Amino acid sequence: MNQENEARINHLLGQMTVDEKIGQLNQYFPRKSLNAGLLRQGLAGSVINASGALSGQGYSGSGNAEGCNHLQQLALEARLKIPLIFGRDVIHGYRTVFPIPLGQAAAFNPELAGQAAAVAAREASADGIKWTFAPMIDIARDPRWGRVAEGSGEDPFLGAQMAAALVRGFQGEELSAQDKLVACAKHFVGYGASEGGRDYDQGEISEPTLRDVYLPPYQAAVQAGVGTLMAAFIDLNGIPATANRHLLTDVLRGEYGFDGFVVSDWDSVKELVNHGIAEDEAHASLLALRAGVEMDMVSGVYLKTLAGSLRDGKISLEEIDEAVRRILRIKLRAGLFERPFTDITRAAREQLTPESRQLARKFARESMVLLKNDSDLLPLSGFGTVLIAGNFVHAGAELYGTWTADGRPEDVTPLDEALRQVAPPDVRLRFAESPDLALSFAQYADAVVLVLGEHPLRSGENANVSDLGLPPGQAELVAAMAALGKPLVLVVFAGRPLAIPRQVAQADAVLYAWHPGIEGAAALGEILFGLEAPSGRLPITFPRATGQVPVYYNQKNSGRPLSVDGEFRTRYVDLPTAPLFPFGYGLTYTRFRYDHLRLSAETLRGQLEISADLTNTGTRPGRELAQLYIRDLVGSLTRPVRELKDYQYVTLDPGETRRVRFKINEEQLAFTRADGTRGVEPGQFQVWIAPDSASGLPGEFRL
Ligand code: BGC
Repeated sequence: MNQENEARINHLLGQMTVDEKIGQLNQYFPRKSLNAGLLRQGLAGSVINASGALSGQGYSGSGNAEGCNHLQQLALEARLKIPLIFGRDVIHGYRTVFPIPLGQAAAFNPELAGQAAAVAAREASADGIKWTFAPMIDIARDPRWGRVAEGSGEDPFLGAQMAAALVRGFQGEELSAQDKLVACAKHFVGYGASEGGRDYDQGEISEPTLRDVYLPPYQAAVQAGVGTLMAAFIDLNGIPATANRHLLTDVLRGEYGFDGFVVSDWDSVKELVNHGIAEDEAHASLLALRAGVEMDMVSGVYLKTLAGSLRDGKISLEEIDEAVRRILRIKLRAGLFERPFTDITRAAREQLTPESRQLARKFARESMVLLKNDSDLLPLSGFGTVLIAGNFVHAGAELYGTWTADGRPEDVTPLDEALRQVAPPDVRLRFAESPDLALSFAQYADAVVLVLGEHPLRSGENANVSDLGLPPGQAELVAAMAALGKPLVLVVFAGRPLAIPRQVAQADAVLYAWHPGIEGAAALGEILFGLEAPSGRLPITFPRATGQVPVYYNQKNSGRPLSVDGEFRTRYVDLPTAPLFPFGYGLTYTRFRYDHLRLSAETLRGQLEISADLTNTGTRPGRELAQLYIRDLVGSLTRPVRELKDYQYVTLDPGETRRVRFKINEEQLAFTRADGTRGVEPGQFQVWIAPDSASGLPGEFRL
């Protein structure tokens, strides 16, 4: 903690009235018209979506910096001149839209994600924003939940790495630099476990699972210095996250040492009444503030009720002061007192630069996952006429995906045009969006690429599905096209894993493109025509059917796993037990062989090295993601059948062999034990160096 800032905060607290203090806890949304009086009296600490709400209200100039500056001016007319912090959902890019977060995770490249976050911070801050409601770091094991698109998938290790990299990317080294944003790790915590994949619903997570699966990304975000967190909408184990003092205070502040502030989710303080845990708005405010929610997003109930509760002796001034202190701390750290206004000339220079587009292209490429490639159909070559068909043929802003309020349709090259630009000159491309046209054009094509999948509005907040199949009509098109017998490539755009076993069987090649962002179409073209090779891996298990959900790789073994003989085993009678594609899976345009796993010792003392030879056995150079998994064979609580502990990309020429080396130490084997403490338990461990979570070279060691 910075002593100078703390002294400044104390000084300010000494001057503030109760109303001004409570004002800092209030995040204001200028819904229809602007309440200038509220700002002039210092009754808002933050404004959300100022730029969106102000558009069309006569502000000119670059972006919306001018609008934010105007609001800031009003706030600085207040007695104590405490600047506002402008918040907005800058989720996977701003003007330069990067792949959706789930696609970003598929690149298994946190560093690249950090670079993209830094671009988003620069662009958004040029429009007056200083606080993003990102990264979303909720572990998700249920692809029916629409918000699976917004996070890094199912794995706590990858999730924690992505969380830390994104926080560092948004915030940079120096939060007060004009091109950085305060990050907000959300939604604390367990939001991904809402039952049935229904957003906002309840969930139950045991304490060990919470600690070993759902919390690690949050701990990583705090360690990376995240300035704020957002409380989740979920009712977790009977306590809505917005009112959970144990998690928000004991764990987050007590155990992790978090010194920033927590914002509620949209209206979630007020919604404690609907949850049936608060009698009325005043009670809701008390519960949330006491739990550790310092800022009330939009609902206005802190402003409305806290002063009364203070008068009635239901809350102390110290409790309010502590909340204000945390908010002022972040405002000071963010440099808002020194630089409350945004230079309105920045946007034109700093948004959507050629470099940021290039980064978006690279990221889109790295995010795509090749799931099938029979007879090496991809990359396409030797086909005179290629038909591109499906509902994404003319996709423009549809490539952006969910949460892209600031991506503009005019900035994206539509898919057909982008493919034309990238395709080799000797390939004739034909395009057809409607199924009828596609089927008739296909007669004259030498190969067919179907580009289909989910519209972005079918994923993201509150966009849950009960059926993980392709959207209506698309399966029929795939089947009809497959019946023609032409070489068939399926490119799937989606915000979630779709359960598409039949379509995978019908197509010769399948490429999963998620929603790839502003340069996604060109990136796709580069992969289809072999200018680049795919290298993404699944950050989440792909189910065979909706009814197989939840299905994830780091499950427990059960007493009757498939690996033992017998009839009564953990299975479905109408479905294979294995998922369609396991976590970590992905192909490329060459093949790799793993041999000669070696461990530096039989017993882990301090550290152990695990290594294997990796050989490119194909005819093209390629990039392979070698993954390190372990299994703790016996524990005081049952342990997952596999856990990812590390990974690394290796690029090899045809015929080249290289030894990949991983190190593992005791801390990496720790877990939440039966007595609730975290630590290791001596015993036997399995280890794999593997191309995915369902295969690999096995070894064993003892601890
Ligand atoms: C979402 C948050 C988001 C907030 C502000 C809520 O509905 O759950 O993720 O940051 O709105 O837009």
